[in-house]
Amino acid sequence: MVFLKKVHKWVGLLIGIQLLLWLLSGLMLSLLNPEKVSGAQWAQQTTHGIATILDTNLLEPHELSADLFDGALSVSLEDRRGQSIYRIRRLDGTILVNASNGETLKTNESDARLVAQQDFTGNGAFVSVESGFAPDLETRNSRGDYWRVNFSDSSSTSIYISASTGEILERRNSYWRVFDFFWMLHIMDYSGHEDFNNWLIIIIALIAIWLGLSGFTLLFYSFNRHDFYFLNILGKQSMARITLIDPQIAAPQQVKLRKGSNLFLSLASHDINLPSICGGGGECGKCRVQFEVSEAPEANSIELDLIPRRLREQGWRLACQHEVSGNTSLHLRKGTLVHTV
Ligand code: FES
Repeated sequence: MVFLKKVHKWVGLLIGIQLLLWLLSGLMLSLLNPEKVSGAQWAQQTTHGIATILDTNLLEPHELSADLFDGALSVSLEDRRGQSIYRIRRLDGTILVNASNGETLKTNESDARLVAQQDFTGNGAFVSVESGFAPDLETRNSRGDYWRVNFSDSSSTSIYISASTGEILERRNSYWRVFDFFWMLHIMDYSGHEDFNNWLIIIIALIAIWLGLSGFTLLFYSFNRHDFYFLNILGKQSMARITLIDPQIAAPQQVKLRKGSNLFLSLASHDINLPSICGGGGECGKCRVQFEVSEAPEANSIELDLIPRRLREQGWRLACQHEVSGNTSLHLRKGTLVHTV
């Protein structure tokens, strides 16, 4: 039980830190405004209608290069700013093809800047355009080349535009970055920030469950009969006469203690405070008292750990581990009664 207490204490410290991080990050995630986090607050509201394509000189899909359809999931014919295009959704991303000549369309830097500026309605001017390749930390749900268009607003907004389709991939800002940091702490995925099933969180969750179970076990063993004495409050409570002998004091002292009560606590209630660091927790081994050898109760596992065998054989026990059972004499450590007489 002593070993279990020690392990419980140190594991509790470790898990306690993580629990604090879970609570703090959970609180932050719930406090952040989802509209600001998603960037939708500063996004242009657009409506999509159905366009009629009148151009009859378009290539049929089977007339396009077969390579364009590698891993294709769907093909659709659309109007894009007055130009007829095929949108081919593939496993590795989406590509746009000019429906008149079969050429693959790319979004260049100035197109990307235009799309981002039309979308962003916040207070901030265009700053720069960078190119990159998804997925990375801020574009982890996308694939392929992108343009990152940066703005000077107070939230440091960046809008990611797909280099192949010209679509907006992500809107990122400082709200999202704060959200993402606490999300990382919450799910304990310190590299990708998205794997909720990682081994680290599973191991910590299992240890937390063990901590709860061991806590219940320790709680169960921490109860003494005297803790339930209030249930018998109307019953007759019999008392025991305890004679206390302190080598530093000539006359023994007598106290009456309730039978079944904890010896350490009952003495303390009479202002007889035995030495202790753990307050009766069975950890420090300081609250030793000596019974007559013939009256000494059996030593429990805590006493086997904390009291040398030679002293146990002389009748020394831990007062916090025993109940008052009847009239008896106890030898105390020298000077224990000095401050009580
Ligand atoms: S008070 Fe610490 S072991 Fe008894």
